[in-house]
Amino acid sequence: MFKQQRSAVAMAHEFVSVNLPEDGTAVDATAGNGNDTVFLSRHLPKGKVFSFDVQEQALNNTAKLLEQQGQSSNGIELIHDGHQNMDRYISDPVDVVMFNLGYLPGSDHSIITKPDNTKTALQKAIQFLNIGGKISIVVYTGHQGGMEELFAVEEVLKVLDSRRYWIVELRHVNRPTTAPVSFYIERNG
Ligand SMILES: C[S@@+](CC[C@H](N)C(=O)[O-])C[C@H]1O[C@@H](n2cnc3c(N)ncnc32)[C@H](O)[C@@H]1O
Repeated sequence: MFKQQRSAVAMAHEFVSVNLPEDGTAVDATAGNGNDTVFLSRHLPKGKVFSFDVQEQALNNTAKLLEQQGQSSNGIELIHDGHQNMDRYISDPVDVVMFNLGYLPGSDHSIITKPDNTKTALQKAIQFLNIGGKISIVVYTGHQGGMEELFAVEEVLKVLDSRRYWIVELRHVNRPTTAPVSFYIERNG
């Protein structure tokens, strides 16, 4: 694992893309500037990507990036709503869910993912996950509320049955405590 690059986002990409069926279904829980949505759509040429964000600007950025990267015709649904409402749009099991939490770089830093919504969305994502499916989460703890969000994520994950879910939390030990924290989850049964 993690042969190519060492950024939190690159590691999340590497984790979710292994064994992802090309006709699979993915959720980008935080569309932002569209990098994860583009990545997922490239790996799902016959599949589907649901991409959520509460900011119209983020969805516009994502649509623009998809077009620039020649990915706009793949089965992508851009959804202007919070990820805590994902069950209003998704009904079938999914293979991948990506959470890249925090605020949209280069935009209003007060529009940010919130612990309660993140908790609800993560619980729903777990319910939708196929056997063999994966969830990646990148949490940034350097801003106000970041640590609370980290605790909220841990609270949801630590009670899951270890026979059904493989869950790893990855932290940098030689960087400031504000460095991103990553979670990798795979459903085994
Ligand atoms: C760190 S950015 C995501 C980066 C993105 N994945 C990318 O590849 O560029 C976090 C995003 O989460 C969005 N967000 C905040 N609350 C949200 C919610 N409840 N549901 C979905 N998105 C939310 C913000 O608007 C912001 O665009």
